[in-house]
Amino acid sequence: MDLESVETSSELLHAQAHVWNHIFNFINSMSLKCAIQLGIPDIIHNHGKPMTLPELVAKLPIHPKKVWCVYRLMRILVQSGFFARQKVEESEQEEGYVLTHASRLLLEDDPLSVRPFLLAMLDPILTKPWHYVSAWFQNDDPTPFDTAHGRTFWDYGGHEPKINNFFNEAMASDARLVTSVLIKDCKGVFEGLNSLVDVGGGTGTVAKAIANAFPHLNCTVFDLPHVVAGLEGSKNLNYLGGDMFKGIPPADAILLKWILHDWNDEECVKILQQCRQAIPSKEKGGKVIIIDMMMENQKGDDESMETQLFFDMLMMILVTGQERNEKEWEKLFLDAGFSGYKITPILGLRSLIEVYP
Ligand SMILES: C[S@@+](CC[C@H](N)C(=O)[O-])C[C@H]1O[C@@H](n2cnc3c(N)ncnc32)[C@H](O)[C@@H]1O
Repeated sequence: MDLESVETSSELLHAQAHVWNHIFNFINSMSLKCAIQLGIPDIIHNHGKPMTLPELVAKLPIHPKKVWCVYRLMRILVQSGFFARQKVEESEQEEGYVLTHASRLLLEDDPLSVRPFLLAMLDPILTKPWHYVSAWFQNDDPTPFDTAHGRTFWDYGGHEPKINNFFNEAMASDARLVTSVLIKDCKGVFEGLNSLVDVGGGTGTVAKAIANAFPHLNCTVFDLPHVVAGLEGSKNLNYLGGDMFKGIPPADAILLKWILHDWNDEECVKILQQCRQAIPSKEKGGKVIIIDMMMENQKGDDESMETQLFFDMLMMILVTGQERNEKEWEKLFLDAGFSGYKITPILGLRSLIEVYP
């Protein structure tokens, strides 16, 4: 066999492995979902030391006939970085499972847990639209979600308490994580403000934390009526139901966390114009504070880049939105009549963007 044909064969086999890997990429997500539903991260965490396979199996709520499959589930999750194997203290030989930084974020009672986000995103209601993407490319529905479910994502949430609840809980779990960084590392952003409206603020996780950290700041959570229905405010926090396309209550600053990536350019300009009308001039401290992704902003590793692309596709499938690069953001701000902006890339894959009238 000459060198050229060896290279060709190896390229061919590599190409086949690449295709297989992508065919079965979903197995990573689904194996992780299974581990979460069985409570594996919490069981290992509560064990307090490396947990051997028999110890893990003894604690799992599974049928005896399935015991022999647990090793296989754990093996793929070790490979994908959610568990690691460590020597058990008393024995040199025996190994047990321990959590990694990633699985620690999936513990049920951890205040920063992303477990609700995982369970929401991998619920069949949200994965079904992925089977309709090519059909959507050929019809004139606004999103594959509409093609799969016959109505928009937001309309579905308004009528189905299950999706409304799990989506709100997923958002709240993300909000807890982001807020912990925001209040620790970005305090200055809120200095000098007397009032703030968190537009699309969900059930108020971010606004509650800001209201607690800045007792002089009057915070309002503004979201769709079914999202804020029945929620009670406190001394410097209140809830208001409404439609951000029709009007936003006035305040020194408007917070838009994970809002604009849900909408197309035309819709974003409308939301930003409503924000602009709600805030005072730049000289009087008016601004819009955005937390969203800035594509291509930092030289990220391959996994970060791929994750941003995943989010962009997600926004295309569920809603009419997209992830944007700086040029695309700038155009939105200028089209909505704002004069300038400042980007602080401090929230991992997302950035904090302050936009001035
Ligand atoms: C992706 S979630 C973000 C929630 C929250 N800001 C966070 O990051 O945790 C988008 C939010 O926008 C709200 N929303 C959608 N359409 C809206 C509208 N027309 N007016 C006000 N809020 C809306 C949704 O109910 C939802 O709470």
